[in-house]
Amino acid sequence: MSPAAAEGPVVAVTGAGQGIGRALARAFAGQGARVVVSDIDTASCTAVANELQTLGVPADVTHAEHCTALVERTVAEFGHLDVMICNAGIMQLKPLLELDGKDWDRMLGVNVKGSFLTLQAAARRMLSQPPLAEGRPRGKILMMASIAGRSGAGPIAAVIPHYRASKAAVISLTQSAAVAFAPQITVNAICPGLVETDMWQRMDRDWSALQGVPRGQAWQQRVAAVPMGRAQTPDDVADLAMFLASPAADYMTGQSINIDGGLMMS
Ligand SMILES: NC(=O)c1ccc[n+]([C@@H]2O[C@H](COP(=O)([O-])OP(=O)(O)OC[C@H]3O[C@@H](n4cnc5c(N)ncnc54)[C@H](O)[C@@H]3O)[C@@H](O)[C@H]2O)c1
Repeated sequence: MSPAAAEGPVVAVTGAGQGIGRALARAFAGQGARVVVSDIDTASCTAVANELQTLGVPADVTHAEHCTALVERTVAEFGHLDVMICNAGIMQLKPLLELDGKDWDRMLGVNVKGSFLTLQAAARRMLSQPPLAEGRPRGKILMMASIAGRSGAGPIAAVIPHYRASKAAVISLTQSAAVAFAPQITVNAICPGLVETDMWQRMDRDWSALQGVPRGQAWQQRVAAVPMGRAQTPDDVADLAMFLASPAADYMTGQSINIDGGLMMS
């Protein structure tokens, strides 16, 4: 590890085996952060950790003991935890009347309970550590919400009700945690739009099938509505995460920021 990296902030990312989480891990590592890569999928977790030559901690965020172990192993390796990014999440596309209790429990189990358990484990540690620097908070927590958690979402709202409810809950949890932990820890949420990852490929496959249109069409229809004229890359999300983790955002807490090319304006 380079001397610069040895001094960088310690950033743990859940769901970092692929997609947005992997882009976040790469971006922070590229800026000299000491990154801890975590994912329920051991193979992808290890692959990304090896790529970044850093610590990988396989963890299922729906288990409190996994979240605690992630924090403990981070602190054992690097001495403290500066930024926790609660990114792990799942998506399912299914019409409202076809959803059952299992679908509901699984969705809210990963996206809400998992985010809560990760946040709680991180906050417990951060509250007991010194400030990041004089006059700064003791730690920062970033939550991965979505514009799907905002009001109104077009026709897709009918086929992702449990996902939308889960992301609205993440936005609410962000606000409660921001109040609970101010001024020691800042808690903010990121609300991406249409990010080109495996998650959206699965959504496109299922939504195109539901509409009876060729694969790829659902995605193209959604992207055509983006004022900025293109789909979002995971790196777009990483840029906002790096800002929120930086001293420039130390006075922000409890905020949920849309980064979606202008799809949702508030
Ligand atoms: N892709 C988008 O358009 C989009 C838009 C808004 C918000 N988001 C959110 O961004 C986050 C990442 O999405 P993505 O597009 O990279 O998805 P993805 O499916 O490509 O990656 C999600 C990662 O989370 C991991 N994961 C799933 N369940 C887990 C669990 N229980 N414990 C730990 N890890 C688990 C998966 O193994 C995977 O590596 C999610 O919270 C998602 O809801 C995505």
